[in-house]
Amino acid sequence: MDVGLNTQILPANDAAVASAAQCLKQGGLVAFPTETVYGLGADATNAGAIARLYEAKGRPLFNPLIATVGDIAAAITIARFDATATRLAETFWPGPLTLVLPKTDDCPVADLATAGLDTIAVRVPAHPVARAILRAFSGPVVAPSANLSGHVSPTTAAHVQSDLSGRIDLIIDGGAVMVGVESTIVGCFDTPMLLRPGGLPREEIERALGRPLARLPEEAGTETGQPLAPGMLASHYAPRTPVRLNARRIDAGEALLAFGPGTVGGVEAASAVMNLSARGDLAEAAANLFGYLRALDARGARTIAVMPVPPLGLGEAINDRLRRAAVGRESGESS
Ligand code: TXA
Ligand code: MG
Repeated sequence: MDVGLNTQILPANDAAVASAAQCLKQGGLVAFPTETVYGLGADATNAGAIARLYEAKGRPLFNPLIATVGDIAAAITIARFDATATRLAETFWPGPLTLVLPKTDDCPVADLATAGLDTIAVRVPAHPVARAILRAFSGPVVAPSANLSGHVSPTTAAHVQSDLSGRIDLIIDGGAVMVGVESTIVGCFDTPMLLRPGGLPREEIERALGRPLARLPEEAGTETGQPLAPGMLASHYAPRTPVRLNARRIDAGEALLAFGPGTVGGVEAASAVMNLSARGDLAEAAANLFGYLRALDARGARTIAVMPVPPLGLGEAINDRLRRAAVGRESGESS
């Protein structure tokens, strides 16, 4: 990768959207806001652009990308929708939901983007800037999170810049994102399965379907040689500082990531304290999660101690990301 590209940053407006579409058409890499996290866009039909994207992120080639499109009409040209998928798409798109579906026979998305799988992950984002870029480009755009592989997902343009400056062509700055954790991924298999908890709470999906989502089995898919959720291996979203979960008291020199109005013993000796949501609001906590992890990581504490977060609603995704952050970066793969 020729690190040393001159990465341009433009505030989100009509001219920036036109530049983004133009850059994508030329095979460029453009970071832009979605409502969940910032995405790194490339033309999904251009294998060369996708190869550059994997290189820019340092992402392993076996980990497939999400294709974003503007609407359901565009989605059905790349993926086959059964009744369940149609129901979910009609209920929740545009929004923070990604569906894993069989590819259509004439799917124009490059094989590299799907890592050779016969399924494809598809999403229709709700963020007005993402939507404007998809409209102007008028084709599928792959959009993994715009971070270096193994780092925390970016929720501001500054986060993208700190990971990818010099490695991508353009960053569209649309301010802080609204949701703050990545989309929920549902595999529309014989039984619909939650592959990744995310910005759309499981409970809402189950209500729309009228039945529970299957859980991802441990070692999912290894018997077929095709991982069901190739990006969900243990290490992920990791800050450099070790993370300690369910802290009920903290030791001197630890940084505290708090949640809710309560506190923990030893807090006077904390090297830094940030509260995901002092009023205990899970949506606010999700929006703050990755930014606060980055900020505490930069403080050089010996540990980031995290108070318990209830596992309901968006709490499922928050706890999932915190567990991955706590596993650390020593064991393998991430996106
Ligand atoms: O909110 C989001 O989904 C953000 C925004 C930017 O769209 N994107 C995002 O992409 O989180 P990424 O690449 O960081 O995560 C995509 C996940 C990975 O875990 C990948 O393994 C999984 O989707 N995935 C992609 N295609 C798949 C497939 N065919 N089957 C199963 N999992 C798939
Ligand atoms: Mg990612």
